Amino acid sequence: MRKKLVAGNWKMHGSLPENRALLDAIISPIGTFEGVSCAVCVPFPYLFQVQSALQGTSIAWGAQNLSQHEKGAYTGEVSARMLSDFACSYVIIGHSERRSLYREDDKTVAAKFVAAQAGGITPILCVGETLQEREAGVTEQVVARQLDAVIELAGVKALDDAVVAYEPVWAIGTGKTATPEQAQAVHAFIRGKISALAVDVAQKLVIQYGGSVKASSAAQLFAMPDIDGGLIGGASLVAEEFVAICRAAQTGA
Ligand code: PGA
Repeated sequence: MRKKLVAGNWKMHGSLPENRALLDAIISPIGTFEGVSCAVCVPFPYLFQVQSALQGTSIAWGAQNLSQHEKGAYTGEVSARMLSDFACSYVIIGHSERRSLYREDDKTVAAKFVAAQAGGITPILCVGETLQEREAGVTEQVVARQLDAVIELAGVKALDDAVVAYEPVWAIGTGKTATPEQAQAVHAFIRGKISALAVDVAQKLVIQYGGSVKASSAAQLFAMPDIDGGLIGGASLVAEEFVAICRAAQTGA
């Protein structure tokens, strides 16, 4: 049985005192949960703070982006090596905000995926369709294309050390969660696609759902057979919400 992973994506939010208060409020309740992995993915400047606060707890941490390059003249970029200096377990790759606002294409996302793994960090690879694409009936083609770019560059076995997050763009930050059935259908498609290449990899792969997950919708989503936790934006900034979502992902919850 796959252990669910709930990861907070803080996006560009937070401050030293706000982070402190949030971390203080989530550490002890989450510490009592069993059979679930929890993590927070934070802005780069707060990695040191989060590492200091979370080491020795049950909550892992990570970043929201990294450079595809190992090092060099790339002003403003952050390498996998730098993230591992702060003991990051995870890095979000190919979030739809990066794909759309910063023009990250499938090739760049795949290169970042490889760079993360080369640095010993587990990539959380985001895939998902826009509203226009859903309405045009091409959800599966879009998700397949996004996955194929990574599989072509890294090989299907690379998914052994990765997480996939299905995040329909129309559900992100909009308050419109996909229904559990809508999400399950795409999750099953993703697992089936990978299964056709490597059954063992597909069975172990953690596929998170992301897009307006709230404490009130988490349990129903997590009850679906192919939904292995969530990537949580807005609700990860509210301690009680994030704790409740992690609680809903516990084994047997
Ligand atoms: P949301 O964001 O939960 O605020 O919709 C999810 C994400 O973008 O990862």
